[in-house]
Amino acid sequence: MKSIKFITVNNPEKGSEELFNIVEKALDNKELHSIGLATGGTMIPVYKKWVESDLDFSNVTTFNLDEYVGIGVDNPNGYGYFMYEHLFNEKKFKKINLLDGLAEDSEKECDRFEKELLENPLDIQILGVGENGHIAFNEPGTPFDSVTHVATLTPSTLDVNSRFFQEGEAVPNTALTMGIKSILRAKQIVLLAYGERKRAAIEKLAADKVDPKWPITKLLEHDNVIVITDLEI
Ligand code: GLP
Repeated sequence: MKSIKFITVNNPEKGSEELFNIVEKALDNKELHSIGLATGGTMIPVYKKWVESDLDFSNVTTFNLDEYVGIGVDNPNGYGYFMYEHLFNEKKFKKINLLDGLAEDSEKECDRFEKELLENPLDIQILGVGENGHIAFNEPGTPFDSVTHVATLTPSTLDVNSRFFQEGEAVPNTALTMGIKSILRAKQIVLLAYGERKRAAIEKLAADKVDPKWPITKLLEHDNVIVITDLEI
């Protein structure tokens, strides 16, 4: 098993700076053609920093990790909307690839997306992590060889993610998501995790043992993973 590089920072702003430097260097070296992007509160300071910078992404293709089934890009609860609000409205990219939560046939939509991914291998995949160790929407027990698929969300994820929904609006219990295998194909993975809520997942990773109950631990088999965290493990 290859070891993961941990970068410990004082706060999410410092973590965003670390990630910024990685992305800036890859752009300068012309090594960033395709990037996997994540959503969630963790990513807000990351994209804020990019928007405020002169980073030029006009030759970069993006892929987002996931989207709720039944939610379109115009819905403020969705991840597509999040991306436009925090990044895409401000920064120009070569091509933006989102999973379409409104696709008539979700399975077909997953196949289409996976094919695009295979044609544009990810140079960097940015990841957050769920409290239960999920990456994208790959919940505990998801097969490690999964590619983009329709996932059923666990009650704990529905509960945690309900904070982003208006009162009275239910969180969809299915989502389209890149699979663990799709994520692991990226040349480099940078995972960001802040706060005590993420401690159990980061401790599992630090324990250096792959465990299907903790999808994050599959990253231990990748040879180029950086974890940026404010947790002392
Ligand atoms: C969702 C997303 C994950 C993300 C996680 C953490 O469940 N599917 O990709 O990593 O939320 O979000 P936050 O950064 O808000 O803690």
